[in-house]
Amino acid sequence: METIIKLDPLGDWKRTHHCNALTEKNIGEKVLLMGWVLRRRDHGGLIFVDLRDRWGLTQVVFNPENDAASHSRAEGLRSEHVIAVKGEVIPRPEGMENLDLATGRIEVMVNELKVLNDSLTPPFSLDEREGVEVAENVRLKYRYLDLRRETLRNNMVLRSRVSKRVRDFFYGEDFLEIETPFLTKSTPEGARDYLVPSRVHNGLMYALPQSPQLFKQLLMVSGYDRYFQIVHCFRDEDLRADRQPEFTQIDVEMSFIAEDTLFEVMERMIADLFEFALGVEIPIPFPRLGYAEVMDRFGVDRPDTRFGMELLDLTGLLGKTEARVFADTVKGGGIIKAFNVKGGSEMSRKELDELTDHAAIYGAKGLAWFKCNPEGWQSPLAKFIAEEIRHEVQGLASFEPGDLLLVIAGEASMVNESLGQLRLHVAQRMDLIPEDRFDFLWVVDFPLFEYDAEEGRYYSMHHPFTSPKEEDLALLESDPGRVRARAYDVVLNGSEIGGGSIRIHSKDVQSQIFQLLNIGPEEAREKFGFLLDALQYGAPPHGGIAFGLDRIMMLLTGAGSIRDVIPFPKTQKATCLLTEAPSPVDPAQLAELGLRLRK
Ligand code: AMO
Repeated sequence: METIIKLDPLGDWKRTHHCNALTEKNIGEKVLLMGWVLRRRDHGGLIFVDLRDRWGLTQVVFNPENDAASHSRAEGLRSEHVIAVKGEVIPRPEGMENLDLATGRIEVMVNELKVLNDSLTPPFSLDEREGVEVAENVRLKYRYLDLRRETLRNNMVLRSRVSKRVRDFFYGEDFLEIETPFLTKSTPEGARDYLVPSRVHNGLMYALPQSPQLFKQLLMVSGYDRYFQIVHCFRDEDLRADRQPEFTQIDVEMSFIAEDTLFEVMERMIADLFEFALGVEIPIPFPRLGYAEVMDRFGVDRPDTRFGMELLDLTGLLGKTEARVFADTVKGGGIIKAFNVKGGSEMSRKELDELTDHAAIYGAKGLAWFKCNPEGWQSPLAKFIAEEIRHEVQGLASFEPGDLLLVIAGEASMVNESLGQLRLHVAQRMDLIPEDRFDFLWVVDFPLFEYDAEEGRYYSMHHPFTSPKEEDLALLESDPGRVRARAYDVVLNGSEIGGGSIRIHSKDVQSQIFQLLNIGPEEAREKFGFLLDALQYGAPPHGGIAFGLDRIMMLLTGAGSIRDVIPFPKTQKATCLLTEAPSPVDPAQLAELGLRLRK
């Protein structure tokens, strides 16, 4: 391959079309295309190149009889060389069309070739049609190459179009898009802050926002009424398949509204988005389920309602049997819950052991099971379950021959969590989840506080600015654990895609909540003085919500990992393999910030 030394290899060459544009309608036209060599094939004296750009692929052909010079230089083309070709659009020979490609009925017969830049051999094939699995750490290190591949490219294109659609929706509803600061004071949203040391004020720190929560509330005090922002948020928390340390929220706040108005606008936004992105019609309004009901029926606060196998409370029934585990659980104040796996009685001992291990991840000390065989119940515990109790369980759980009942006993929150997770696991294993469904729901009436038994204190379940329900105000002093919040989550197919609340707009109530959260008047003033002040200058009733854009993109694209919808994501260990962030800094930089690292 010739060496490229020209600084301006384009000269007067101007692209006429991108690589997904040409069709039969263009046959006979002279065109000029530019792009990357995805693949070169030599065939019967001809050289075929799949030329790629972000729009698609066009097949270009080098024929020695047409232009011997270009043909001979094309012999040196390798994957990812950047080229420009002048040529003529011709029909593909009969039988050679590729109807999977928009450009699949034509090809471009090249008259002139320019090599604009060469490329090292990529560390992995960029042609996903070859179906080669590439290790994710390699993909992340060479992210700029991975982004050239079709899957990520499609995800990025869709993400851009989705963001625009969301913006258009909110502009259409008279919302203002307003930016809030990144260098700010920490807002408690339950995770650790990323801190940024101040150079001008040595020893002091900014925090990167976990969300724009307080600023959007201040914008309501300022009278802006309807705010939205597509905004980066930063949380130093343990990462999972659907969590990143920096992620994007569709952040919203509205004034002079209660839940109904907010739900109505958000449902229309979501329905519009799904219609736009996938052409699916989402029925609105979404069902609303209370937190208590959801926990009861599904064990988790973000239920996947695309399939059944709901949890049943068998505390009363199994608790009075001779089985020690059950009787002891009830004596200790615990609960016994179960779900019926229809047709699950075929499961082997090994499979049941695997389910037991899965439940153990969430704290279950064991998993009891009962198979319903035509000749009766089968289980190590079967002999302890009297006939009349079997009868009642059978009625309650519609437990029939061929079925498998999975039972966990113990402390209530552990039982719910482990059985709820097991329900999901079994459904995935047995392929019970319809892939083409989008089940949205609102979870409402969350508790305002969570009690941390270890620390002996209450924490906000959502955040401290969430309004309690009016009818529960009296309980604030007497029984804070029973106070319900005006908080809500949007759940889609078992994933929490958004959450928000109606806020406290009274300084006195806000101060009272801080008290209950063990934030004394001095600390409240120091941390949130600006909010308490603002609430005294005519704060309107207001509320809002934030959606996780990355999670919505995962569900729209079917991506298995949040990293596949983010252009430059971090690993599970919060590192960037491309830039190698985080990285050490120059001692002089630290000194300027007044910092020294501890050995
Ligand atoms: P919340 O903390 O529920 O609410 O966040 C809103 C939504 O953001 C998404 N999300 C995340 N996505 C990816 N990675 C993460 N680490 C991550 N953390 C959260 C979720 C979640 O539902 N200020 C409030 C909103 C409000 O009250 O208006 C807030 O941030 O999809």
